Amino acid sequence: MIIAVDGPTASGKGTIAKALAAHFGLPHLDTGLLYRAVGRQVALDGGNPDVPAAAEAACAFPDSLLNDPALRSEESGGLASRVSIHPGVRRALYERQRAFATRPGGAVLDGRDIGTVIAPEAAAKLFVTASVEARAQRRFLEMRERGEDVTLEEIAADLRERDERDRTRATAPLIAAEDAVLLDTSAMNREEAVSAAIRIVNELTGQTPCP
Ligand code: DC
Repeated sequence: MIIAVDGPTASGKGTIAKALAAHFGLPHLDTGLLYRAVGRQVALDGGNPDVPAAAEAACAFPDSLLNDPALRSEESGGLASRVSIHPGVRRALYERQRAFATRPGGAVLDGRDIGTVIAPEAAAKLFVTASVEARAQRRFLEMRERGEDVTLEEIAADLRERDERDRTRATAPLIAAEDAVLLDTSAMNREEAVSAAIRIVNELTGQTPCP
C-alpha cells in the first residue's frame, strides 16, 4: 500500500506521514530532505541554486549529507525550494523516490508531488493544508525552542514566498491530486491531525480501524 502525503511547508505533513508509517508498519521517505540536500550541496559547492546546471550537478550529493542537521534549517528549506523548480533536478531525484514508493509491501512518502507525479497510483492520497498564520505560529514556536532569533512576521513572509514558488513552478507544482483527500490542520493539535489522517487512510483503503 502506497500512502502519498503532500502539502505546503509546515502544514504538518511530515509529522502525519511519520505517524502513518508507524501506525501501518510502512517505511517512510521525507522527499523534501532530498531537495534540501541538493540545495545544501549547491551552497557547499559555492554554486548558484537558480542556475540549472549548478543545481543538477549537486544532485550527486553524497548519501551522508542526508544526516546533516543543517538540512532542517530554514536556509536549507529556502535553497531546496529554489533548486526544486529545475526540471533536471526533479528528473534526477525521480528514480530514487519511485524505487522507494514501489518497495514490496508499500511505503509512505511525503512531499509536494507524490500523489500527482511520483506515485499517482497510491492507494491513499492526503493533501495536508493549514493557514499561513497557523503554520507560521508552529514554525515560530519550534524555532524559538531551538533558540533561533526570528519574528513571526519574518516566518510568515518566508512561508508565503515559498508557497508561491512551489505553487507556480512549471514542473510538478504543489497542487492536490484530483483524488486526494484534503486535511486542514489549522485548528488541530498533533494528536487530532494524526487521528484524522489514520481515519482517512482506513476509509480510503477499506482497512478495519484499530480499536
Ligand atoms: O517539505 P520541505 O519543506 O522539506 O521541502 C523543501 C522544498 O523542497 C520545498 O519548498 C519544495 C521542494 N520539494 C519539492 O519540490 N518536491 C517534493 N516532493 C518535496 C519537496
